[in-house]
Amino acid sequence: MMKRLALNYQNPKGVLGNLTLHKMNHHHKPLMDWTFQKLALRFDSKALDIGCGGGKMIKRLAKLLPYGKVYGLDLSPLSVRHSKWENLRNVRRHTVKIVEGDVCKLPFKSNNFDLITAIETIYYWQEPERGFQEVLRVLKPGGKFVIACELSENGKTLPKKWSHIGEEVSLYLPSAKDLKQKLLDLGFLCVQSKMHSKYGWLYVIAEK
Ligand SMILES: C[S@@+](CC[C@H](N)C(=O)[O-])C[C@H]1O[C@@H](n2cnc3c(N)ncnc32)[C@H](O)[C@@H]1O
Repeated sequence: MMKRLALNYQNPKGVLGNLTLHKMNHHHKPLMDWTFQKLALRFDSKALDIGCGGGKMIKRLAKLLPYGKVYGLDLSPLSVRHSKWENLRNVRRHTVKIVEGDVCKLPFKSNNFDLITAIETIYYWQEPERGFQEVLRVLKPGGKFVIACELSENGKTLPKKWSHIGEEVSLYLPSAKDLKQKLLDLGFLCVQSKMHSKYGWLYVIAEK
């Protein structure tokens, strides 16, 4: 049961997947609130949320970008369906577009987005470095990449609520320092990180 639950965070499927997506939309709200506190957005930005899960981040971005366009991408067909349903009105108005895909091979042209977000998802990327390279490719020069993770530091001590996931699937858990260095090495500029003082969440913002 724990394994199925863990796998549904990584790649939501079936009834349990639907339930997990529903829960994540709710449980990740505080992390998304914290992320938005730090983001300066232009009303007409073109944004992409990678690993969009249940679609809540897309919905919030679309509200803040009335003259822009928001894309969502996820590896899981169920996440894509859930996100489309969550954003139905904007999908019908063509202000939101959600597609299936892997961060390692983004189905978008280069120099395309002003903002790319990755909330609670980098842990599961099979090839994080390849994913970051793809993010860099599709960002416009001056565009921003934002990573937000509930997991803090180097993952040596997983918070209790995460331990069952860590036992079942291998997670990518870089420290803030290592992640910052990795992004700089790949060619991102002005990489900044922040830890939440109370919960130890990690926020990284990097510019192309
Ligand atoms: C824990 S959920 C987070 C969902 C959402 N961002 C949120 O905060 O509620 C992780 C999501 O990342 C997606 N994912 C995992 N690996 C991915 C990859 N390589 N490319 C795109 N999406 C991926 C999963 O399918 C899942 O929907």
